[in-house]
Amino acid sequence: MSQTNALRVNGERLWSRLMQMAAIGATPHGGCNRPALSDADMAGRALLSRWAQAAGCHARVDAVGNLFIRRPGRDDALPVVMTGSHLDTQPTGGKFDGVYGVLAGLEVIESLNDQGLTTQHPIELCVWCNEEGSRFPMAMMGSAVWSGRLGLDAALALTDRAGISVRHELQRAGIATDAPLARQPVKASFEVHIEQGPVLEQRTKIIGVVTGVQHMSRHEVLVEGQEAHAGPTPMDMRRDPIRVLADVLPALYAAAAQRGRDARLTVGFIETLPGSPNTVPGRLRFTVDIRHPEAAQYAALREETGRLVRAALQRHALAGEIRCVWEAPGVTFDSGCVAAVREAAEALGFDPLEMVSGAGHDSCNVSAVVPTAMVFVPCAGGLSHNEAESAQPADLSAGANVLLHAMLALAAR
Ligand code: GLV
Ligand code: MN
Ligand code: MN
Repeated sequence: MSQTNALRVNGERLWSRLMQMAAIGATPHGGCNRPALSDADMAGRALLSRWAQAAGCHARVDAVGNLFIRRPGRDDALPVVMTGSHLDTQPTGGKFDGVYGVLAGLEVIESLNDQGLTTQHPIELCVWCNEEGSRFPMAMMGSAVWSGRLGLDAALALTDRAGISVRHELQRAGIATDAPLARQPVKASFEVHIEQGPVLEQRTKIIGVVTGVQHMSRHEVLVEGQEAHAGPTPMDMRRDPIRVLADVLPALYAAAAQRGRDARLTVGFIETLPGSPNTVPGRLRFTVDIRHPEAAQYAALREETGRLVRAALQRHALAGEIRCVWEAPGVTFDSGCVAAVREAAEALGFDPLEMVSGAGHDSCNVSAVVPTAMVFVPCAGGLSHNEAESAQPADLSAGANVLLHAMLALAAR
């Protein structure tokens, strides 16, 4: 066996770094809260940059806050072989979503350093800015700008619920929002991630070869009512926006159920204003996240959601609207990169499962401009976007080894 074939990541170092990163923004129930561009997010990025610097890498940040960590190649003018994910989390996020992909990428670099190996192509580890889209309302933001799918100004203008913009937070962190945004030449890109669903665990598989990502979009519904006293105001004299919610929710769940087990519909945010128990709300805002792996089913569910909301507004004679605030069309990954992942997994003795991702990932945007594929490993009970998210150290090492060898297959020649 050649020196390269025998190469393995250091699983203990990977686990120890995952736990060190999890201490930043740690939550009471064992999870993490590192909203994009918050102090905790910036502290996580600073810790990673210190590790990368100690590993001899050069770090740079682009105008939308993506962080790129570069390990030179033998021919440093060649296109890079890239890997990466995100360090921001959901408000009650886990220790592994995104972070695993970043630290597994760093582990690839460290393992090459340990053996004194230099790849032909340079390697770049990326931390994409605002993948979650839970603070600033557009998921996979940094990779969308990098890939040219979203304008820089549109990203910089996004605001959180307190009205603070991406531009403000980047500048507060000392990031130049007028820095050049040139996309470096990339030969191929790989991302390793926990599955965030139950399939690998149920099938007792350790490695998922991700062939693509399902269609998904996020919609915001606004309904205007009239604030009124909860006691004296007769029911038939109210303009109550919750009437729309009460009609629409069962209809939406029924519409999703009609489209089989693959359909996904989530109402993850509901807000009433002024939010007082004894005032009829003057305004209602809620979100609907819609996903399906089949284009026709996805389009039909999206269309029906709009129709149901508009019909309920009309029925209750209330003003309002539904608008799509974010959409990521389904993706089929590059067959060459998918093959590199499959071959790496098989060479390491795994019997991998080919699967389509239910979650969105920066790789969706990256794959629009660069040959891309992903690796999945199981997480306990398929649970993610939850403080209890957990994964086995051995599975995390396995995924990092598959990432290492898939990257080596493209970077070494
Ligand atoms: C990203 O976490 C998504 O919403 O799939
Ligand atoms: Mn993620
Ligand atoms: Mn996530």
